[in-house]
Amino acid sequence: MKFDTLIRNGEVVTASDRFIGDVGIVAEKIVALGTTLPAENAGRVIDAKGKYVIPGGIDVHTHLDMPFGGTTSADDFESGTIAAAFGGTTSLIDFAIQYKGQTLRTAFDTWMKKAEAKAAIDYAFHCILTDLPDARLEEMNALVREGVTSFKLFMAYPGVFMVEDGLIFKAMSQTAQNGGLICMHAENGGAIDVIVRRALAEGKTAPKYHALTRPTTAEAEATARAIALAEMAGAAVYIVHLSCNDALEKVREARDRGIPAYAETCPQYLYLDDSLYDRPGFEGAKWVMTPPLRPKWHQEKLWEGLRRDHLQVVSTDHCPFCFKEQKEMGVGDFTKIPNGAPGIETRLMLLHEGVRKGRITLNRFVQLVSTAPAKMFGLYPRKGTIAVGSDADIVIFDPNKEVVLSAKTHHMKVDYNPFEGTRIVGAPSAVLVRGKPVIEGDKFVGRVGSGQFLKRETFVAQ
Ligand code: URP
Ligand code: ZN
Ligand code: ZN
Repeated sequence: MKFDTLIRNGEVVTASDRFIGDVGIVAEKIVALGTTLPAENAGRVIDAKGKYVIPGGIDVHTHLDMPFGGTTSADDFESGTIAAAFGGTTSLIDFAIQYKGQTLRTAFDTWMKKAEAKAAIDYAFHCILTDLPDARLEEMNALVREGVTSFKLFMAYPGVFMVEDGLIFKAMSQTAQNGGLICMHAENGGAIDVIVRRALAEGKTAPKYHALTRPTTAEAEATARAIALAEMAGAAVYIVHLSCNDALEKVREARDRGIPAYAETCPQYLYLDDSLYDRPGFEGAKWVMTPPLRPKWHQEKLWEGLRRDHLQVVSTDHCPFCFKEQKEMGVGDFTKIPNGAPGIETRLMLLHEGVRKGRITLNRFVQLVSTAPAKMFGLYPRKGTIAVGSDADIVIFDPNKEVVLSAKTHHMKVDYNPFEGTRIVGAPSAVLVRGKPVIEGDKFVGRVGSGQFLKRETFVAQ
């Protein structure tokens, strides 16, 4: 067989297997796996000796070009997908927002326009629902048929995205019928709002009060409520950006009872803690995200959750705002700090540190960043594995490459890095999307606009 590209002598790692061997690619697909595939006539040979050959990362939680908090997230689909590619992510799922009174189709069309000419990797959408009169229920079915098979609902941010339990229950009942999946931002927004207003009235305006006004109990209560509503509706539920042990316990209890409840966490909750809010001046604003960073002891519980499959996915919740001018909108009032932090570029490197430290296995690493997200969101086996017939989305990951995370060197269009100065060992050295190189060493060699929209399959319980 003649390959367009042959990757030789690497350690191929999937969620289940590891072997030293070769991957043969023709056009956009993986067509052969073996130990001595013929190199003669191959269009391009990539020597992966001493490196891992893993399926491209799938980030199922990003906010590119998103209007939020009085401004717009700093990365658009061009800078965001290029940064993602540098970090070994080859597909992402972003959020198309339905504003009140709009059709769901308008949300989808609006986000397609933002992405289609700009994306350098493949992309899909969840739809954020803010308004769901009965007349719109059929629109959910229509979106599912078009491959937008998941919906995000917010139990927080009153007056912006927050919806009430009736709407949540209605949406869940609909996904139980149409094969969609509800992704839930689980925090008790009503109670948090009261605590926030009390804090402001007492003159507590510094960034640290963002964290102090969003207790872990508010996250746990909403997580339990979301699961109960899903149980009543006979639907599955996926909790996004889970940050603390209290919420994790609710997911674990439900799963132990056989309820189809799932959750993701993000690298920031695995590595960073609430002591960062005590940085001098306004610097704590860099880590104003929702849910906020928690006391350090939660991190060990989250790692344990990842090991035991109480948590199934690691995403980024990439929602970047520059410190200058964007975060600074909240000087003197923490509620005006746009919520979110950058991370689309650093997810694989940071989670791989967990392998180096013996917290998770290499196979589990691949499962958390690629295979499980693909399965959860209807992309498997086209994406999320290295198998004959799958898209040739491949990361050549050098386990010895040293990187220092920094705003000076990262490719995200944001003026700070939440992990500034962190030394990492292990990073992508080459990345292919559907057989085409997009990253070679420190260079982007892909093409803006070459990313394809991914029409996803309906949800299958994992
Ligand atoms: O702070 C965050 N997480 N910003 C993005 C919006 C969200 O809630 O996911
Ligand atoms: Zn959220
Ligand atoms: Zn988010």
